[in-house]
Amino acid sequence: MKVTSIILAVSMALAAQAQKNQASPSDVCSTDITGSGQGDLDAIKGCKTYKGTITMEKPPVDQLTLEGVESIQGNLIIRGSDTLTSFRAPQLKSVKGELSISQHTRLERLDLGSLTEVQSLTLSVLPVLEKIDFAAGLSQVDDLRIEDTRASNIGGLKLERLHSFALTENTLMKKFELSAKEITGKLFVVGNSNEMEFDASQLASVQDATFRNLAKINLSGLAHVQSDISFHQNGFSDLHIDNVEDIGGTLAIANNDHLTETSFKKLSLITGALSIGNNTQLQSISGFPSLNAIHGTVDLAGNFDKYEFPQLQDVRGGMRIQTTSSSFNCPELEQKFKKSSVVKGSIWGCKSNMDANNMDPTIGQGGAGGAGGGGGLGSMPKKQKTHNSSSSSKSGDDHSSDAASISLRGSFVALAAGLLGSLAM
Ligand SMILES: *[C@@H]1O[C@H](CO)[C@@H](O)[C@H](O)[C@H]1NC(C)=O
Ligand SMILES: *[C@@H]1O[C@H](CO)[C@@H](O)[C@H](O)[C@H]1NC(C)=O
Ligand SMILES: *[C@@H]1O[C@H](CO)[C@@H](O)[C@H](O)[C@H]1NC(C)=O
Repeated sequence: MKVTSIILAVSMALAAQAQKNQASPSDVCSTDITGSGQGDLDAIKGCKTYKGTITMEKPPVDQLTLEGVESIQGNLIIRGSDTLTSFRAPQLKSVKGELSISQHTRLERLDLGSLTEVQSLTLSVLPVLEKIDFAAGLSQVDDLRIEDTRASNIGGLKLERLHSFALTENTLMKKFELSAKEITGKLFVVGNSNEMEFDASQLASVQDATFRNLAKINLSGLAHVQSDISFHQNGFSDLHIDNVEDIGGTLAIANNDHLTETSFKKLSLITGALSIGNNTQLQSISGFPSLNAIHGTVDLAGNFDKYEFPQLQDVRGGMRIQTTSSSFNCPELEQKFKKSSVVKGSIWGCKSNMDANNMDPTIGQGGAGGAGGGGGLGSMPKKQKTHNSSSSSKSGDDHSSDAASISLRGSFVALAAGLLGSLAM
């Protein structure tokens, strides 16, 4: 009797211990995974809803499949493998946090065929990945980043609204159609195939936009820009954004060496600067028939003979014109804008018949090198909050806004210095 009850007690204790070690299914489905192989993913096969975060750094395997999981409440991050050729999550419909697949030099196959919803999605540095297709239709993403892939297009994006979107260094991508109507943060399209046609004709509103290295652009529906918008080193010959009414920061158009024509038919207010520089084929600064007020500076440099600002009544910053043309009429410009006090800022300069090599870069002209932009005096003022220093920029953009306000001040210092130079002549 005694012996059997001891055995019973011991075996019960052992069973309890075993149960402790082998976490119950509900624990498995909410415990974070920091793993490196298929076994780590197989352990959560039974979890339709997985409540944790999966992080794999440099998994030394060639294939990974996340089977069975339909929704992840944390993040799914797989990074830095030089062996991984295939990653599949065929049933995965939603990720509440971040989904990031990045820095896999051999990844050829990516299956996210059921994905419809994710807070933040990053596909970055996947230099052999040719096919990106969200077969179920990816309809909700706040922050989307697709960078350095071999994809020639992206299937199944059905986005109406985004916070931010970066499409960069996809050097084989010749066409991209953006379905979104609104982007509440940054749109950054840089360094893809320089044959890229970027169609964002549905886009009505964007906070901040940067376009570089494009062969064509369609922004025909764009009505409002809350902060800066810039066009650098593009190959298109004309730029028509005829529905935009207001730009809440700086409009910069620089180094587009095929550009011959611009038009912004409804644009009436620019809260930052108007900066147009080094577009070597642009003969005339025109296409601003409604432009009434510019709260920043007008900074124009190039080969133009003419300008047309028929409605311009109020420039609160200064004005600086640099042109190679010998027929540009500086005295007339001065009469029209400076002596009549349209231009209210103290900075003033107009030089014609210049050698292009002696021109100072216009505001935001520099930083043409690639993502993020370079530093230097001419670097792009990313955020310009001229009137309300207490208003803070959007979350997440804080450092860039600090750096930007410094570079903006840099631009003004450069501008002032440049003008002192020109006045001394
Ligand atoms: C831009 O897109 C709109 C809408 O699809 C279209 O009507 C228009 O012709 C396009 N513009 C150019 C220049 O391709
Ligand atoms: C002017 O634009 C061309 C074409 O993008 C570029 O190669 C050149 O470096 C630019 N010059 C300056 C001074 O920025
Ligand atoms: C400045 O921004 C702050 C914070 O966003 C806001 O409360 C205030 O009304 C703004 N003031 C002006 C003059 O716009």
